[in-house]
Amino acid sequence: SDPDLVARATAAKAALGERVFVLGHHYQRDEVIQFADVTGDSFKLARDAAARPEAEFIVFCGVHFMAESADILTTPDQKVILPDLAAGCSMADMARLSQVEDAWAALEDAGVADVVVPITYMNSSADIKAFCGKHDGAVCTSSNADVALEWAFAQKGEDTKVLFFPDQHLGRNTAVLKLGYTLDQCVVWDPRQPNGGLTVEQLRDAKMILWKGHCSVHGRFSPDVIDELRAKIPDLNVIVHPECQYEVVTKADLVGSTEFIIKQIEAAPAGTSWAIGTELNLVKRLADARPDLTIVFLDRNVCYCSTMNRIDLPHLVWALESLVDGEVPNVIEVDADTEHWAKIALQRMLDLPG
Ligand code: 13P
Ligand code: SF4
Repeated sequence: SDPDLVARATAAKAALGERVFVLGHHYQRDEVIQFADVTGDSFKLARDAAARPEAEFIVFCGVHFMAESADILTTPDQKVILPDLAAGCSMADMARLSQVEDAWAALEDAGVADVVVPITYMNSSADIKAFCGKHDGAVCTSSNADVALEWAFAQKGEDTKVLFFPDQHLGRNTAVLKLGYTLDQCVVWDPRQPNGGLTVEQLRDAKMILWKGHCSVHGRFSPDVIDELRAKIPDLNVIVHPECQYEVVTKADLVGSTEFIIKQIEAAPAGTSWAIGTELNLVKRLADARPDLTIVFLDRNVCYCSTMNRIDLPHLVWALESLVDGEVPNVIEVDADTEHWAKIALQRMLDLPG
């Protein structure tokens, strides 16, 4: 990275001292990660943000929904800053509150809403989390989706159904591969179609109602590439994120959140071979850290998360230097009512066992 910008970021961070706390998601660029006080997946970062009440400014190097969650979990005096406001998440954008409310109305019309527990993946806007808080639901992340679903299915008796959004893949993979539901018990609600493209009977029969959303990075990995790589590399271990398609996850040897993937690679015996199906900044960093392993990326093309990559060193320097100059730019602030209900849904997640 540009030595001048590195020097400026170092100086600005030193000038701010304990007043600033920089969080970095694992998918951030190396040039940004070097300035993170902590790194983590979205679950760990949510906890880390909450554990730093003395920091006046939380600079969140990640995407918008993560900064919103940090704002909800920190004290009202703390300001959460997103160095580039255009760092959104295409998956989070696939579930808008009005669409979720329409889906809920359809569940009411079908006479099943009273046994439905809404669970939203962390990767969703604060108003969606608030919706879950209001309707006896909770938030989950890729590290705890199984525990969250077990909790949800115990909430409304044996007829309980879960409405899961926005990532259909995480929902399906967890329900089928971790909880033992069948693919037939999962239906997909398409917000662009009348009644989600489902009949009332389908809604009544389903256990998992999956929102038709996906991650533009993880959704790209394909089972064919796994076959190709296995044919080329003997004793290949395939490890993927649960946002990948069901057909990819079932062909992989291991599946888990970014924190899980990192731990597995850190602990891998020297000389072993790995194909990793997650975002490319992280895969490259893991490969650099373990030159004694063979590490390949599970896609024929490069696939960074374009919105994560919007946070670059120039944006971070600008945010830090603005703070030094007494300006507080790009503050992410969730309104009080949304925050109240979203916090209930987030707290239900943080209270889950494990
Ligand atoms: P985790 O950080 O929970 O592994 O989720 C991956 C992701 O896509 C974050 O945007
Ligand atoms: Fe969203 Fe996927 Fe990027 Fe994560 S990796 S921020 S889920 S688009």
